[in-house]
Amino acid sequence: MAKNSSVSVSVIKRLPRYYRFLGELLRQNVVRISSRELAALMKLTASQIRQDLNCFGGFGQQGYGYNVAELHHEIGKILGVDKGFPTILIGAGNLGRAIATHINFETRGSRLIGIFDINPDILGVEVAGLKVRDVAELDIFCRTNKPVTAVLCIPKSTTQQIADKLIRLGIRAFWNFSHYDLSTDYEGIVVENVHLGDSLLTLSYGINNLVTAPETEPEE
Ligand code: NAI
Repeated sequence: MAKNSSVSVSVIKRLPRYYRFLGELLRQNVVRISSRELAALMKLTASQIRQDLNCFGGFGQQGYGYNVAELHHEIGKILGVDKGFPTILIGAGNLGRAIATHINFETRGSRLIGIFDINPDILGVEVAGLKVRDVAELDIFCRTNKPVTAVLCIPKSTTQQIADKLIRLGIRAFWNFSHYDLSTDYEGIVVENVHLGDSLLTLSYGINNLVTAPETEPEE
């Protein structure tokens, strides 16, 4: 299998979608699928699929297509879904609680092991089966439990400071929801800055461009 580091970001970004569609096919007991069928399902071209999967050595067989379970498993391995990276969440407000409760970390390579906040009113409250801890406990918690990933659901103004502290405490990956873009240039640190609003703006652009006919002056 090819070294993943040479694979383009756009291919990597498509992998979760392959994984999701293949998981759906697995649940429907589909055993094999051709690149043409998979392409039709995913609204891609067959050659795009072959190109994408060839970046990892290719998993298909001429005349057979892809074994769904095998391809799902292999893409899962590339994505690290079975790694269970220990993860902490900072900021147990509206967004933090929704993420902790509704995202299935376990099936996506992560394991939520701690939730932290600064607000004394919510310390000790249970969220997703975990008691919200005081941020003052971060040092000892990180030294003991060695989390790798931090989910940030805190105000913009505190994000950089918290991120710097977490890097010092050994955090290597940020899933950052705060409206502050963390730099993606840290050595040895991976960052996903997530803005749901950007997705809405993309939609807005789409709607805006649905209006095709230019306005014309009515004829006299
Ligand atoms: P919220 O006010 O309900 O929750 C924020 C929580 O962070 C509070 O519980 C607060 O006590 C805690 N907090 C503040 N400073 C902290 C610190 N230094 N350490 C630990 N905890 C701290 O706000 P909400 O609605 O949950 O939003 C959280 C952040 O996410 C905001 O910055 C908001 O703008 C952003 N947001 C981002 C979205 C996205 O698509 N990326 C969507 C919605 C909100």
